[in-house]
Amino acid sequence: MAVVYDNVTKTFHLKTQETSYIAKVLESNHLTHLYWGKKINTNNLDYLIEKNLWGSFLTDTDNIGTIQLEAVRQEYPGYGSTDLRSPAIEIQFEDGTSATDFRYNGHKIYKGKPPLKGLPSTYVENDDEMETLEIYLLDELKNVRIILTYNVFEEFNAITKAVKIINESEENINILRVLSSNVDFKEDDFDFIHLSGAWARERHIIRTPLRFGMQSIESRRGASSHAQNPFIALARKGASENYGDVYGFSLVYSGNFLADVEVDMYSKARAQIGINPFDFNWLLEKNEEFQTPESVLVYSPNGLTGMSHTYNNLYRKRLCRGKYRDKVRPILINNWEATYFDFNETNIKEIAKEASDLGIELFVLDDGWFGKRDDDTTSLGDWFVNEEKIKGGLGKLSKEINEMGLQFGLWFEPEMISPKSELYEKHPDWCIHIPGRNRSTAREQLILDLSRKEVCDYIIETVSNVLENASISYVKWDMNRNMSEIGSLGLPPERQRETAHRYMLGLYRILEEITTKFPDILFESCSGGGGRFDPGMLYYMPQTWTSDDTDAIERLKIQFGTSFVYPSASMGCHVSAVPNHQVNRNTSIDTRGIVAMAGNFGYELDITKLTQEEKDAIKNQIKLYKEIRETVQFGDNFRLLSPFESNEVAWMSISKDKSEIVVNYIKQYAEANKWNKPLRLTGLEEDAKYEIIDSGMILGGDELMNIGLVIPDLKGDYAATQWILRKYTL
Ligand code: DGJ
Repeated sequence: MAVVYDNVTKTFHLKTQETSYIAKVLESNHLTHLYWGKKINTNNLDYLIEKNLWGSFLTDTDNIGTIQLEAVRQEYPGYGSTDLRSPAIEIQFEDGTSATDFRYNGHKIYKGKPPLKGLPSTYVENDDEMETLEIYLLDELKNVRIILTYNVFEEFNAITKAVKIINESEENINILRVLSSNVDFKEDDFDFIHLSGAWARERHIIRTPLRFGMQSIESRRGASSHAQNPFIALARKGASENYGDVYGFSLVYSGNFLADVEVDMYSKARAQIGINPFDFNWLLEKNEEFQTPESVLVYSPNGLTGMSHTYNNLYRKRLCRGKYRDKVRPILINNWEATYFDFNETNIKEIAKEASDLGIELFVLDDGWFGKRDDDTTSLGDWFVNEEKIKGGLGKLSKEINEMGLQFGLWFEPEMISPKSELYEKHPDWCIHIPGRNRSTAREQLILDLSRKEVCDYIIETVSNVLENASISYVKWDMNRNMSEIGSLGLPPERQRETAHRYMLGLYRILEEITTKFPDILFESCSGGGGRFDPGMLYYMPQTWTSDDTDAIERLKIQFGTSFVYPSASMGCHVSAVPNHQVNRNTSIDTRGIVAMAGNFGYELDITKLTQEEKDAIKNQIKLYKEIRETVQFGDNFRLLSPFESNEVAWMSISKDKSEIVVNYIKQYAEANKWNKPLRLTGLEEDAKYEIIDSGMILGGDELMNIGLVIPDLKGDYAATQWILRKYTL
């Protein structure tokens, strides 16, 4: 049983195959957190309950002097009673006050996992996969109820948590803060890890020791953002890739989020994640409910790799959905860096023809095919083809491309509106804005107000119309700016701070409807590259354009960081031209190929302009990737040498049946007179033999893991090599 309730000790024990999570109802009916970590066998951890701290300046709970909530680790702390640390929930009542006192009021255990209404979430394929625990908390004075939902993914070793507030009181309440998860640790000897960066520099790994007080990451940008990813981990001091305790928190949400850790007066760490309370409130009328997004908690005793394997597997199999979840992804070519806006059906078909000859499977027409869009100043919202560029329209072009043996894919940016567009002329009030204030543009565009139903309906209708009238197998769904002057004409003053979250709910409805309506289309999300690479988007679209930075060396850090949480099948990785368009660097076609083979492989350059030698290299890359893509996309990935720590970078993938191994190595800068240490592999079977395909050499798993692969003599900067190994049986 995944959820055990001990009636005597009033203890909940959530068990996955390798982990335990334990909480308990105290005599005062407050809910305390007791343990999260490696699986243990007891249901009684009462000895861990914190005792009264004499002379501590803490407030006595219930005035009885035996319990002071602020010293006790809590499951879901409120604010203003006797715990004065960072709350998980804060509500303002009609009298203006915001103290609450939530206490246990029952629970329910059942099989299965109901979806979260209107929100993306992990799922089960049948009810027997999962036990769910709902714990009910009640603020008796105001009759406000909370449901804490815990879903136990036994096999995946993950627990998800979400929270629902039900207003059963006689008044409207104002939710100021409602986080999805709170975990109070009994210690603080951790490092705080997050994935941070900027446009074209996303998800760099940051690791710093926890310190006294509050540390946090957040997005206030109306999207999960390039700057921060909705994920944090606490790694026990000394924990590394393969050893030590790591606790991960990830949020299935694409909007403003907060993830914080407060180290309190007693050196205990409180970790939280959820919707960002900044510029947020939610008016909950009588008998209404509010559902938070889902948080996904992963404990690994096997270091960061163990945590990543859990997230990668869970998100690939129980978050991503649809026909492409388990299907190898096509090798694509995208015309963006090849032509930018400067294309017509003739040069597009030339690129497609060459692509088809080289073995590419999907051609993607990027930005610039619609309205009057010849640069980025106009036409977002006008989703009809520009016949001057594409004579005969998309139906004809897509058919012609299909006839070349390629699937056809199309770019959209449906959430946006250009002030220079027919749509803006008709509906100048459809954008997010505050009357009287400047409508600040970014890339000369404004954001459509998806908190309004009619705006969402327009997007569903116009995008569907294009998809219905051409042979489209793939959609790239882009989003190229963050929010400013946030306000909605559709909402009354007291609900204006709901706009950003209502936008996400509107977006999720659009994505649900469109992806359901077009189940055969492969959707890839994008936000100026990886500005919305988050679990929320992955629920609707099983892959994401990882970054607008296509430089192979820059990509090492970006892809390394992304792999902490996200499966390689979700990462779009393309070979682009040199000198690279973002950083002007030259790297060899081999190095670019090896780096792009870390995920969903593709090309983003004008292949008609390449030398025969380069075309031959590409042909070979494509042939090879087709052979290994199942391993790369769906296998287990191991980070071997980190670009954040060394000049040498390496990673490997092992196929699920453990028969094929792909190992990649890059030396960023050439070094003189240096002996390269062999590259030790990991995750192999000690007793198995493996053949290195190119050389025919046969080595044991024990040798490969304890001695390693010998690095060949690589010349020059940015040199790379790749080994394919297959299990050898006589
Ligand atoms: C940003 C994307 O990340 C690029 O790949 C490209 O699609 C441009 N937008 C087009 O405007």
